[in-house]
Amino acid sequence: MSQQVAEELSTEELLAQAEQSLIYIVTRPQEVMVRGKGSYIWDSRGREYLDFIQGWAVNCLGHSPRVLVNALNRQAREMINASPYLFNRPMIELAGLLTANSCLDRVFFANSGAEANEGALKLARKYGQKHLGGAYEVITTYNGFHGRTLAMMSASGKTAWDGLFEPKVPGFRRVHFNKLNEVRKSITPKTCAIMVEPVQGEAGVFVASKSFMKGLRQLCDDHGILLILDEIQTGLGRTGSMFAYEQYGIEPDIMTLGKALGGGFPVSALLAKDHVCVFDAGDQGGTFCAQPLAMTAGLTVVRELLHRNIPRRAASRGRVLKRHLKALGEKHGFREIRGRGLLMAVELHAEKGPEIVAEAFRQGLIINSPRPTTLRFMPSLLVSNAEIGRMAEILDGVLTQVLR
Ligand SMILES: Cc1ncc(COP(=O)(O)O)c(C=O)c1O
Repeated sequence: MSQQVAEELSTEELLAQAEQSLIYIVTRPQEVMVRGKGSYIWDSRGREYLDFIQGWAVNCLGHSPRVLVNALNRQAREMINASPYLFNRPMIELAGLLTANSCLDRVFFANSGAEANEGALKLARKYGQKHLGGAYEVITTYNGFHGRTLAMMSASGKTAWDGLFEPKVPGFRRVHFNKLNEVRKSITPKTCAIMVEPVQGEAGVFVASKSFMKGLRQLCDDHGILLILDEIQTGLGRTGSMFAYEQYGIEPDIMTLGKALGGGFPVSALLAKDHVCVFDAGDQGGTFCAQPLAMTAGLTVVRELLHRNIPRRAASRGRVLKRHLKALGEKHGFREIRGRGLLMAVELHAEKGPEIVAEAFRQGLIINSPRPTTLRFMPSLLVSNAEIGRMAEILDGVLTQVLR
């Protein structure tokens, strides 16, 4: 046995162990992260990074916020897991808080965004079975992203996934984002729902137009079908309001949340209007669904967002971020700056995204390039003006170096 206790391994040994024992899914920077606080994260060699991805738009209150650490500690001492068979206190409290502060009436809790979306799909299909003569098709969008389970890869519109893991789950029709006429033409008697993100995040931050979202709502009403909003990336303050749908003046029939909900702890939610909740006993569930630690994380995060009016703060910090990106754009020549709140992206003239991300990492800044020509920014919703300024300063140096 050559295995040692993890704490005894050097960084090089850890990386060698990772190479040997992890299933390859992606190429990661050759560092091991060990600590995070607020907008910063540190690696095992003691290097500091300004983190503008925050666990992929997950750590909405920054890394390891004290309020969340304390709440998780308290709950862990009380009870880590009751059983999906039993109620627990934070589960009920979080459901009450989410329904009281959204247009939806009921909640099912899950563990990841993809799992919540699977629940949404099942609910829509069951609704179709019960109320729409067996309709089961869901209209989704090109470049939409809904997760990595087989059904959600089938629902997503990532063309790079075409041909992967075939056969895909049938029952999805793709239309182009923001093209209402295409949606209209795609509705058939088999359609039970339309599923979109208010902002296509993984695609590179493309914002739905108001007329598109209002039009989708109208089409759903006209045909008696369901509007599913995937707010896994946009929900809970990220775009400058508690939920992105509020900015469109419409209400979804089903909404999914994830990412920010646990402030870093894995938890997601499927929310629905009362009349849509057609599950029978046994239709939906999961061993870890609504377990007390996850529920405590969610409860703590949602309370913080509401009590401190963090979505409004995100809107104003988003304006600061945009100003800095505009200034960088004037100097370095971006094609476009787009986004809402603290979910922003810039479009480059060349396919330099991965190179910029790698150089930024070397210089102590973590950003993301969802497409070769795009840089994406999704900092903590509590990011300070000074941290945004620091990010722009580092990025300025990186762009000067890479784009010269
Ligand atoms: C809009 C959207 N839906 C679903 C997901 C999938 O969530 P998860 O990775 O937690 O399964 C993501 C993840 O990036 C997302 O951005």
